Amino acid sequence: MGRREVALWAAMAVVLWVGGEGLGVNWGTQASHQLPPKTVVQMLKDNGFNRVKLFDADPVTMKALAGSGLEVMVAIPNKDLEFMTDYDGAKSWVKRSVTRYLFDGGVDIRYVAVGNEPFLSSYKGSFLNTTFPALQNIQNALNEAKVGGKIKATVPLNADVYGPTAVVPSSGRFRDDIGPLMGQIVDFLARNGAPFTVNIYPFLSLYADRNFPIDFAFFDGGAAPVVDGNIQYTNVLDANFDTLVAALAATGHGSMPVIIGEVGWPTDGDMAARSDSAEKFYAGLLRQLAGGAKFATPARPGGAADEVYLFGLIDEDAKSIAPGNFERHWGIFRYDGQPKFAMDLSGQRRQIFLTAAKNVKYQPAKWCVFNPAAEDLSKLGESITYACTFSDCTALGYGSSCNGLDARGNASYAFNMFFQVQNQAEESCYFNGLATVTTQNPSTGTCNFTIQIVGGGASGGGSRVAAVLAAAAAFVAAVLLLI
Ligand SMILES: *[C@@H]1O[C@H](CO)[C@@H](O)[C@H](O)[C@H]1NC(C)=O
Ligand SMILES: *[C@@H]1O[C@H](CO)[C@@H](O)[C@H](O)[C@H]1NC(C)=O
Ligand SMILES: *[C@@H]1O[C@H](CO)[C@@H](O)[C@H](O)[C@H]1NC(C)=O
Repeated sequence: MGRREVALWAAMAVVLWVGGEGLGVNWGTQASHQLPPKTVVQMLKDNGFNRVKLFDADPVTMKALAGSGLEVMVAIPNKDLEFMTDYDGAKSWVKRSVTRYLFDGGVDIRYVAVGNEPFLSSYKGSFLNTTFPALQNIQNALNEAKVGGKIKATVPLNADVYGPTAVVPSSGRFRDDIGPLMGQIVDFLARNGAPFTVNIYPFLSLYADRNFPIDFAFFDGGAAPVVDGNIQYTNVLDANFDTLVAALAATGHGSMPVIIGEVGWPTDGDMAARSDSAEKFYAGLLRQLAGGAKFATPARPGGAADEVYLFGLIDEDAKSIAPGNFERHWGIFRYDGQPKFAMDLSGQRRQIFLTAAKNVKYQPAKWCVFNPAAEDLSKLGESITYACTFSDCTALGYGSSCNGLDARGNASYAFNMFFQVQNQAEESCYFNGLATVTTQNPSTGTCNFTIQIVGGGASGGGSRVAAVLAAAAAFVAAVLLLI
């Protein structure tokens, strides 16, 4: 072997050895029907993920993670931050959600996420007063419990904390309204050896601005570069990350470790949210991450983020769609644990699929559709609205996978989604005679009429989910009323 071949083989060996190291994924659970947590944990292991980020510290999930060897980020939802501003409240949370799992064969907790994007502009400052005190109390409680050396509190923040992306990366600064607060938070993280956690969404840049140069969202080098001094940026992830590095440097912590808490691409619910785009985005991202998570950016050539968590694991049909219909379609897996597109976690761009969830139980092969024999159609509009208020009709919207259906197809889609959420209960497929059950799969080329899995749902203690659905589906319902 010549010297070049040796170097090539060595490089490949490194890729194979570290491929997947540092790669994590977000496991959200706002779905009407959930795969059993044990099934999900097995799926994570089968695919070689070694880290998982949660949005709470649900005991059933934690029990499933015990002994799995996965490193875990547990979380405190925004609504509970207020409670953590009391030190005793924080101490009891740490006991209940962290230290009780730290036994041999327990859960390998590494981080506590204090809130989730609490400083989003759209929250209008609701969590500005509680986040930092909660962060301090949680880390102090971890330290007092003598686990603070290994378990760090951090605050996953949206990239909007460092303002508009119009600036060149090197001029990045934290947003004016939260500048001093961010300075205090970063100082505290540094004092405790904790990382900064940021969520970066190239898709949202595109969603917010249809003139956003689409190539810049991917990693193909096809985009006209953003020129920043001697540096040319050809993808928004690098540019966005280095904007953060500059903002951190301005607070005196330019080399603070950074975790990318969320990064991903949705597959439905918007014209830019498509499986092929997601496949392309992840292929580029994973190639960047192939040397472990420490991909390089111009500002951090020796390694940028210590850990990267994909968003997300499984579709969540009960998530709020206030930000957009795409919110329910972020999964790299469908609701039933089937992979959606080719994805090679080692970054080698092989056309391979992730390993699906095993032993998934489906409801019978039955669908609820518009009844062609129906005569009185006067209640059709309100029936569709009702069905969509209590199920997920986001695939019907403009630019989505089921947008091409005709009026009857729309009705069938809505009735079926409701029927499946209701675990195919007979009375849920009536709608004044407008609906009927069929064993003929009504799916079309792009539009999937799904069958739900067994577990959860309206009759399985889903009242909280139903309430969330009711609130969140109001927008879709309003749209459908216009039919
Ligand atoms: C936060 O604290 C400031 C100053 O005490 C107060 O004016 C403001 O109303 C508080 N905001 C919230 C959301 O509680
Ligand atoms: C079906 O529903 C979608 C979403 O509400 C709507 O955009 C579309 O126009 C509807 N199609 C027909 C034929 O009514
Ligand atoms: C539609 O659903 C079936 C299973 O119900 C699945 O095998 C297939 O991949 C899905 N197609 C799309 C385009 O999601």
